Amino acid sequence: MDVSKVLKEALVELESTDNEDSVQLIRVKYLGKKGLVTELLKSLKDLTDEEKKHFGASVNLAKEELLGKINSRSLEINKTSINEKLTKESIDITFPPPISHLGKIHPISKTYKEVIDIFGNMGFSVAEGPDIETDFNNFTALNIPEDHPAREMQDTFYLDQKDENNKPFVLRTHTSPVQIRTMMSSEPPIKIIAPGRTYRCDSDSTHSPMFHQMEGLLINNDANMGHLKGNLINFCKDFFQINNLKVRFRPSYFPFTEPSAEMDIAYSIVDNQIKLGEGDKWLEILGCGMVNPKVIENCKIDSSKFQGYAFGLGLDRITMLKYGLTDIRSFFNGNNNWLKENGFSLGRI
Ligand code: DAH
Repeated sequence: MDVSKVLKEALVELESTDNEDSVQLIRVKYLGKKGLVTELLKSLKDLTDEEKKHFGASVNLAKEELLGKINSRSLEINKTSINEKLTKESIDITFPPPISHLGKIHPISKTYKEVIDIFGNMGFSVAEGPDIETDFNNFTALNIPEDHPAREMQDTFYLDQKDENNKPFVLRTHTSPVQIRTMMSSEPPIKIIAPGRTYRCDSDSTHSPMFHQMEGLLINNDANMGHLKGNLINFCKDFFQINNLKVRFRPSYFPFTEPSAEMDIAYSIVDNQIKLGEGDKWLEILGCGMVNPKVIENCKIDSSKFQGYAFGLGLDRITMLKYGLTDIRSFFNGNNNWLKENGFSLGRI
């Protein structure tokens, strides 16, 4: 058999294929166990030593050449088919995804946006602070004494690292330290809200170790409790979308405000469902008060010239009330089915 003829035939066949399967068939036809080239090698045994030398060498050369060509043809075909696929299957990223693939807005995200919108319209701007706080900002500057129950280990997450006063850093237990940061870094008049994450070592259907609060702080030279009440009532009417919202302010105690109050909104139970706005039952919504002059002084602001009010509310709590959700943990366990049911479409936010 003529080696160069076999090789030539193989190369012609290879050139005319355009798919990987046929390349593999050619490989088998020529180089497989019973392949034509393999047969040529087998026929060596019938030759003389001298003939073996020449013939063997030429068959081996042909085999190597063919193997190389098969491999490169195979690569070439694969590359072409990948390129074809890429062109054919390219995604038009400007094309809107089908409704079923759209994500949902988490109820907490919706609340975030709404509270920022509502207070933004009243002239409040958004301030931020870190989740990891110093003992001073989270407690001391807010007039929370060393022996206050909020400092006990079961409430607060303490970190191993210590700050410059040799006190362990904490995961902030409320957004109130943003009051301190803002008063320390800016001059009155101050008018901010500070929504954000807060942490306490507590977990049941109404408590989560990570939850959300929003702080409000207004400092000028004539703010009073009446301004505070007016703004908070307007906020609640707007947020809960209830015009005739019945509310009350109850005297309370917070170390950082004096006087302090808690705001309740009225509710009743109708058909086993909570109905907000009227009735003879009361739900606590937020804490508030006039900023304690000690706190103003702790922030190096002259409390004989400036005064103000502050408030703090749980964003998870008002979201649960607004949408009738009963377990705070469902907000944070990452269940996509829950989000599909309770989330909001992009268009509706
Ligand atoms: N920091 C308080 C808490 O976490 C909430 C609060 C109450 C904030 C009264 C305030 C306030 O600014 O005036 O329970």
